[in-house]
Amino acid sequence: MRLDPDAPPAYLKPMKRPILTAPDPRLQQVSTDVETVDSAIRQLVDDMADSMYEAEGIGLAAIQIGVPKRVIVIDLDQKEGNKNPVAFINPKILWASDEMAVFEEGCLSVPEIWDDVERPAKIRAEYLDRNGEKQVLEADGLLATCLQHEMDHLNGVLFIDHLSRLKRSMAIKKLTKAKKLKETA
Ligand code: NI
Repeated sequence: MRLDPDAPPAYLKPMKRPILTAPDPRLQQVSTDVETVDSAIRQLVDDMADSMYEAEGIGLAAIQIGVPKRVIVIDLDQKEGNKNPVAFINPKILWASDEMAVFEEGCLSVPEIWDDVERPAKIRAEYLDRNGEKQVLEADGLLATCLQHEMDHLNGVLFIDHLSRLKRSMAIKKLTKAKKLKETA
C-alpha cells in the first residue's frame, strides 16, 4: 500500500527485487501458507522491506515481488533512519467489525491510481512473526486498512477490484497505457 500521491511512481525506480504492476497475471495468484519460518523466509521479509522502502510504500505482500507466499511487510511509522518493518506471516482475520471505514488507497502495484475503498473499521488478526511465534493483533485506523489491503494481495485481489466495474476498467486502461509508454521509453 502507498500513501503519498506526489511521490514518483514506483515502477520508474530500479530495484533489486522489482515490484510487479497490474495488469500482471501473477498478481492474481493465490499465495500459499509458509510451512516453516526459516532463514529463507526472513531473507524474503528483508528483501520485501527493501523494495517497499525504495518504492516509498507502507506495506507490501510477497506476491508483489513475484513470490506467492503468504507474507506481508508493513511499516506505518517510517522516519528517516528509523525503519521498523513488521512481518505478518500466514495472517488470518479472526473478527471484523460491522462498522466500516472509507480510506483513499493506493498500491505499489497499481501506480498513480488512488480511490476510496470501504472496509471493516476494526479487525482482529492472527499471524506468525519473523521468529515464527504466533501473535494476535487488534487493529483499527490505517493499520486495519493496510492489513486488509495486503491480505487481499495474498488472495490475488487488488484494491481496484473493490471499485465499480467502470472505475476498475478505467484504471486497467490507464495502467496498460503507462506500461506501454514505459516499454517504449
Ligand atoms: Ni497493494
